[in-house]
Amino acid sequence: MSIERSEAENCRAGASPASRAFGNRSGCPTTARQNRGVIARYRDFLPVNDETPVISLGEGDTPLIYCPELSKRVGRGCHVFVKNEGVNPTGSFKDRGMTVAVSTAMERGARAIICASTGNTSASAAAYAARAGISCAVILPAGKIASGKLLQAFAYGAKIVAVDGNFDDALRIVRELGVEGDFVIVNSINPDRIAGQKTAAFEIVDELGEPPDFHLLPVGNAGNITAYWAGYREYHPHQRSGRLPVMIGCQAAGAAPIFHNRIIEQPETIASAMRIGNPASWKQARAAIEESRGAVDVVTDEEILAAQMWLARHEGIFVEPASAAAIAGLFKCCDSNEAVYSFRNISEGRRIVCTVTGHGLKDPDVIMQRMRELKSVPATVDDVRRAIDL
Ligand SMILES: Cc1ncc(COP(=O)(O)O)c(C=O)c1O
Repeated sequence: MSIERSEAENCRAGASPASRAFGNRSGCPTTARQNRGVIARYRDFLPVNDETPVISLGEGDTPLIYCPELSKRVGRGCHVFVKNEGVNPTGSFKDRGMTVAVSTAMERGARAIICASTGNTSASAAAYAARAGISCAVILPAGKIASGKLLQAFAYGAKIVAVDGNFDDALRIVRELGVEGDFVIVNSINPDRIAGQKTAAFEIVDELGEPPDFHLLPVGNAGNITAYWAGYREYHPHQRSGRLPVMIGCQAAGAAPIFHNRIIEQPETIASAMRIGNPASWKQARAAIEESRGAVDVVTDEEILAAQMWLARHEGIFVEPASAAAIAGLFKCCDSNEAVYSFRNISEGRRIVCTVTGHGLKDPDVIMQRMRELKSVPATVDDVRRAIDL
């Protein structure tokens, strides 16, 4: 379907013919770097065509950071990389899928999008809706959203509705509202979200030259593990080695339906982004784990918080608690007799990627509770030197 727009709308949607001539789908001279973004980079692998207005904030192309201290923890000459998705435009991996979901929604003439969220989807949906000039409704479990994420949804102008229930209740309501046709659902039950999120796997293969041997990531609604596995398989014919990674999903101990193989009615964890008892992509996640000969394991809240601090202090990467579950999972694979997948006997020199999914500043409350009160000292060099106490 072709859509007629004003020049200003074309700028926003990035669809002018002039820009195509420069290989840049934005006609707006002030967005010269608009050729960034996952649609621009991986268009041939995504459900878009020349008529799709590209709604992008320059997402993707996130750093794959070599981590010497994590590598030492694993030992055996292994190399650990962290894929830092917290540096996406709204601070989480959701932006990769949201650019595709909102772009295709615009192509279909959508006027409003809707999502249930543990926080990051709402921030991302709100931002991309603002960029597209359409409305966004976000349905959240009341009192369960990290303050930074709620603030983002508000700042981007979403209509926020808090429900007395958990994420699973919110998603049930969104599914019903989606059927009525007033909104396009942009949760990961929308296949365009998964399609966009696959691009993180493409980037890893492009950067390493082949897939890693192991890939660890946090699992909540299970969209991301589904997307990575789809991405690695789809990119398979395009890469040299023909190898696929072992996928290891990390769930919080109090919210681990896939690990326990049963719905958790009252999921609980400090990692609010993963507080989900009945994941939408459960079956696909199971398939990813089985086909890759991987595993799903659990990590406790204490392990998550310890891993969050460790990563910040040893590698300089500050992530939100859900993201730290991947690091806690890595430590468990290395150190614990109870690990479902042990790294103690893996071959030398293996390459391991951990995806950290969201920025640490999104959930400041967790860290604030652990910070000592900051007392002031007199403004003299001597007092300050004494206070530094190094
Ligand atoms: C920061 C963060 N990490 C992990 C997850 C879990 O991802 P998925 O629901 O795709 O399994 C989420 C989901 O909201 C998230 O926001």
